[in-house]
Amino acid sequence: MPQRYSLAAITLHWAIAALLAFQIAVGWALEGLGSHGFFLYQWHKSVGMLILALTLARVAVRYWKPRPAKLEGGWQGALASGVHVGLYAFMLGAPLTGWALVSTAKVKVPTLLFGVLPLPHLPLPASVHAIAENGHGLIAWLGIALFLLHVAGALRHHVMMRDGLIWRMVPGRSTVLLVALPALIVLGFIAGRAILPAPQTAPAPAPVAEVDENSMEAANVAEAEAMNAAAPADNAAQNATQAAAEEPVGPPPAWTVQPGGRIGFSVGNDGETISGSFSKWTAAIVMDPDHPDSADIKVTIDMASASVGDAYKDGMLPGDEFFGSAAHPTATFIAKGAQASGPNRYRASGTLTLKGVAKPQTIRFSLSGKDATRKVTGSATIARLPFGVGNGDSSKGLAPQVAVTFDFTAKRKD
Ligand code: HEM
Ligand code: HEM
Repeated sequence: MPQRYSLAAITLHWAIAALLAFQIAVGWALEGLGSHGFFLYQWHKSVGMLILALTLARVAVRYWKPRPAKLEGGWQGALASGVHVGLYAFMLGAPLTGWALVSTAKVKVPTLLFGVLPLPHLPLPASVHAIAENGHGLIAWLGIALFLLHVAGALRHHVMMRDGLIWRMVPGRSTVLLVALPALIVLGFIAGRAILPAPQTAPAPAPVAEVDENSMEAANVAEAEAMNAAAPADNAAQNATQAAAEEPVGPPPAWTVQPGGRIGFSVGNDGETISGSFSKWTAAIVMDPDHPDSADIKVTIDMASASVGDAYKDGMLPGDEFFGSAAHPTATFIAKGAQASGPNRYRASGTLTLKGVAKPQTIRFSLSGKDATRKVTGSATIARLPFGVGNGDSSKGLAPQVAVTFDFTAKRKD
């Protein structure tokens, strides 16, 4: 019989414990969240499914690798074993009820685990929903109660009985690890609280959204730059053609979108207006404002980043009725060439690909400022039905045209 649990069992024990603490911290905050609800739900579901996978691995390890012999018999030993069984039931039950509850919800929100792996919905009848939802909240409390009993038992052995039982779950006899491993649970909980949006005080979601948007857009700039890096080859080709045509114009300059820009949308719904925005998008723009015909514009929008500032509606947007973001994570607008429609005003006709459907689409925009920094303001009217956006029961009152507006600052790349 080994002295302690295998390294695999020990690693999984503490990793799962820390992730569970994260889950509970995030889970409790899920209801009543503003526009950031969507991302937290995706995080909660992703980490929850990771826990399920790690727990299955842990159960496998339990049967493969030898474990140390039981230290205690009698009712105390039986209680310890009972608590362990209960903890395994919690580690499996929490994710399974979570998975069941999202699979049976009225509005089926698609899940992309860690933004990459689509999570299928379990084929369960809708009647399971209430049980799964109540069970999910209840199981968390049962888990906490079992955890407290479990820790009380560990402390009893460590402080009162001094039989060294705790070292069976610590690799080596490292005092540092003895403190650090349980501390991971506290860290997991703190991390869960830390990713929650700041409490929304009176006039508020704006600052929260802004901070976030800026950081996202900073990432976008990097992405846009990466996309533009492909441009020199095109430019060289254009250079050659232009030289051949002996036009006195250089290659059209490429532009980088600066952080702080916005793509918004609004649509009428039964007399009111629903407005929202996409927090994640990139634009690769090549354009000479004096020769718009050589423009090359590509805008890529991350559809899962749509928010109308209401957690419930935000939860519906990625679903099949609206954007179907799991199957079609991005929408693109591509236009080759633009036309001047007035002083500093332009029109670009291109192709909008949304929810897997590609259709001709025109956007209008105006430029202000000069030289290397321009402010871009524009709009487009999109007929949503040909793209299959809003094709279900909850869209009956939705107007067929969606107004899209955008404004951002672009800097010329030299
Ligand atoms: C693995 C461990 C998990 C733990 C410990 C956990 C814990 C929690 C907790 C404490 C809540 C708050 C419940 C309440 O306020 O009543 C919650 C809510 C929620 N969890 Fe989990 N969860 C886990 C996994 C999952 C998984 C895998 C999914 C989905 C795939 C999921 C989906 C949800 C949803 C959708 C809610 C909101 C429920 C509602 O609106 O009533 N959870 N979770
Ligand atoms: C500070 C927190 C914790 C401490 C000090 C601790 C300590 C221990 C120790 C010493 C053992 C070995 C018991 C023995 O050899 O008989 C053990 C086993 C176990 N722990 Fe923990 N633990 C903690 C948190 C957790 C959490 C959060 C969970 C899961 C939710 C958990 C689940 C388990 C399970 C299921 C076993 C039984 C392993 C097996 O024999 O299959 N523990 N824990």
